[in-house]
Amino acid sequence: MTYNKLNTIAYINGSPYDILPGETILSFIKRHKSKDAIPTLCDAPNLDPFGSCRVCSVEVGLSADGPFRAQASCHTPVMPGSFILTDSDKIKKLRKNIVELVLTDHPLDCLTCEVNNNCELQTVAARVGIRDVRYPEGKNHLDRTKDLSHPYMTMDLSKCINCYRCVRACDEVQGEMVLSMSGRGFDSRIIKGNDVSFFESDCVSCGACAQACPTSAISDVFESKSVAVDQKIRTVCTYCGVGCNLEVSVVNDRVKSIQAPYDAEVNQGHTCLKGRFAFSFYEHPDRIKTPLLRKNGELVPVSWDEAYRFIADKLTEIKHQYGPDAIAGISSARCTNEENYLMQKFIRAVIGTNNIDCCARVCHSPTALGMQKAFGTGAATNSIEDIKLTDCIMVIGANPTDAHPVTGAKLKQFAMKGKPTIVIDPRRTELAKYATYHLALKPGTNVALLNMMLYYIISENLEDSSFIEKRTEGYQSFREQILALNIDELAQITGVDKNLVRKAAIAYATAPNAMSFHGLGVTEHTQGTFTVMLISDLAMITGNIGRPGVGVNPLRGQNNVQGAADMGCQPHQGAGYLNAYDPEINKQYEAFYKTQIPLGKGLKIPEMFDASINGQLKALWLM
Ligand code: FES
Repeated sequence: MTYNKLNTIAYINGSPYDILPGETILSFIKRHKSKDAIPTLCDAPNLDPFGSCRVCSVEVGLSADGPFRAQASCHTPVMPGSFILTDSDKIKKLRKNIVELVLTDHPLDCLTCEVNNNCELQTVAARVGIRDVRYPEGKNHLDRTKDLSHPYMTMDLSKCINCYRCVRACDEVQGEMVLSMSGRGFDSRIIKGNDVSFFESDCVSCGACAQACPTSAISDVFESKSVAVDQKIRTVCTYCGVGCNLEVSVVNDRVKSIQAPYDAEVNQGHTCLKGRFAFSFYEHPDRIKTPLLRKNGELVPVSWDEAYRFIADKLTEIKHQYGPDAIAGISSARCTNEENYLMQKFIRAVIGTNNIDCCARVCHSPTALGMQKAFGTGAATNSIEDIKLTDCIMVIGANPTDAHPVTGAKLKQFAMKGKPTIVIDPRRTELAKYATYHLALKPGTNVALLNMMLYYIISENLEDSSFIEKRTEGYQSFREQILALNIDELAQITGVDKNLVRKAAIAYATAPNAMSFHGLGVTEHTQGTFTVMLISDLAMITGNIGRPGVGVNPLRGQNNVQGAADMGCQPHQGAGYLNAYDPEINKQYEAFYKTQIPLGKGLKIPEMFDASINGQLKALWLM
């Protein structure tokens, strides 16, 4: 057998396997063998290949009989027709030698490895068969004081192996650029900012560096690496609309620390300060741990049995005395689909009223309505993953690096790479600082500004005619109305230079794929629905809808706003968005729930408060 570059296969230890475009040797071997097939140190699942430690070396040859050369597999593309040896004697010796050299400069008395077996360096050392280090100690771990200045993070550079994972995590994942490497040889060391303390640096406490560090050179005050835990529990963060997956380490039934799992689609090993470190409220003395019932004007703890009995008796009594419409429920977009489904089913099928609502219909109701009018459904059209596939991003009325930090970090990474980024916001947000175009409009003028963008796209003939013809309705009259607008008047209304708007519009329309993101700066205005419809119009006239890397993407406020709406926690729409006030659909719900389902109009949240004040509403269940 000899090398044939037309092959789309390569050989691992003599057996042929197919290659995917863009694969490195390491990803190729991991896909066909196991994810632990090759030891690595400087490589990490959510970082770009770096190739500094060489522990991942394999032998590569162009024929089955050699000659072979050692190559770092993590950053070398797999070559069609090549022959890869993963565990030859030569490679085993090389890996062992490399790790031995790393260990000469690393203290071997660290608790991280002794107690918790949680040091990747020690795991790799054991794997490559190291029992004793044959070389004299280096000096890197001497004379180093710990940096304990940070409220959450700790740094002990005596344990640093100069793999750069922390530096890359800060750059590539969070985009904060706080860490860098200073010095040469044994004097190489990680510094924060201009060699200041952790506390004085610009660190945003996301903890990406601590999670990336393969030893405990950077860790956290919760000793997440050095304490043996009883169990790790997977959960979802409830702080914002990103909904990061979290892995909670539990000791004696208490939350000890939190990490972000790498296999989570939404956050891929990253989370923010809140998701990772803000968990002490679980233990707060003010936290309610038993049901409380008001007796003689005082809230007093009672048993669950007593609480349930009271709730059931009271709701039954109110229903009989005042009718089911005297009761209402507010469901929660921080809860699961199952919980939301049951909540609306309880209010409709058990209580017998459509008085059910949740925040999905409140802060982003213009998104739901505007997108329903434009597309037929009020859901984000694309996935956050698609940021990797887009060529232009438009963010309007949102400050994602503050309000949706993990998604914000991805958008910031996009903008920092110099890719076309349009920020439409009166404020100079963090993202606006990196944006190609910051359209700092006067508050409340979103409609005027988006009309300007539409005007320039149409007047510059940048519409996607084929998409418009095949997939839209009513375009001609829309076009005429947009072209009839007085662009100078709009520029005056928005306070934005019309040439800047023109450039931004051209960037959005000419990008092969453009994605938009919007937040409450769009929806919490009286013209919110129209703004969402115009954002949708922008996507439609440029054909930026219906494929990966494009679309209209609301940044919602809670982790399951979409699910709560899908499950039917809105007065006018039952599960699956069917019209709760339509007699024909009502029959379907009745057949499905096998009981009578109300047809009467339900109260929205503000109406519930009015009804409470005027005495019409007697009981409200908040989930
Ligand atoms: Fe490949 Fe470090 S893991 S060079």
